[in-house]
Amino acid sequence: MSADSGAGETDPVPPVVLKLGGSLITEKDRPETLDEGALAVACDAVADALDDGAVDRLAVVHGGGSFGHHHASEHGVSTTSGTRDAGAVAAVHGAMKRLNAHVLERLRDRDVPAVPVHPLSLGARAEGADGDLDLPLSSTATLLGEGFVPVLHGDGVATAGEGVTVVSGDELVVELAAGLGARRVGVCSTVPGVLDADGDVISAIDDFDAVADALGASDATDVSGGMAGKVRELLALDAPAHVFGADGLAPFLRGEDAGTRID
Ligand code: IPE
Repeated sequence: MSADSGAGETDPVPPVVLKLGGSLITEKDRPETLDEGALAVACDAVADALDDGAVDRLAVVHGGGSFGHHHASEHGVSTTSGTRDAGAVAAVHGAMKRLNAHVLERLRDRDVPAVPVHPLSLGARAEGADGDLDLPLSSTATLLGEGFVPVLHGDGVATAGEGVTVVSGDELVVELAAGLGARRVGVCSTVPGVLDADGDVISAIDDFDAVADALGASDATDVSGGMAGKVRELLALDAPAHVFGADGLAPFLRGEDAGTRID
């Protein structure tokens, strides 16, 4: 990355990018309810890793869980189907900001210098089925350079021809990892890794074709996510990625392998 990337005069230190899944930090079946225990464990792990220097730069992304999804489905908004109703946008974005505020508060309680970055205010999606996401990252990069932990979240995003669609935390992780030149990428959710057809964790994936059958991927049809889509996107990154459950978070942040390594 050049010195002109907006992050300062020297090449920035590559950050770790971590996603906390919405299903991990919220109670998925109860509208706008946190899973306080799981969120506390996750925030403890982040605070410990920064304290002992295992991680020096960290960007966090969290998903929607019972905050965003509930409002998005009520208003028929998804990653591909948008709304032009400002009230619907406010409902989805407002719920995600409330969740973001809870996450920030619990991180700051542990002296993690966490600050919000709201994708709705930054990004735009191009028209069309692939809907390329443009997410300017100079604010996030500059915050990292100044010692903050930026915390982004799944959100609404301006979308040409659709109004506002949903941008998922998984999409944001891939954008951040590529755009910031991440050192490592972690995706923490309620599953212990990428599972094979027998339900066992696959320890490492370095070739999509070798696992496509086990993941139930059917040719080019998997554009909208699912584990196969996620694996494909993580494989395309330069940085090694790990997909793991709550137990894997502390080891991942210490620099160890956790769950499934995708490289
Ligand atoms: C969804 O984000 C955000 C909204 C619904 C606005 P994700 O799709 O990343 O959320 P989880 O992690 O699956 O809950």
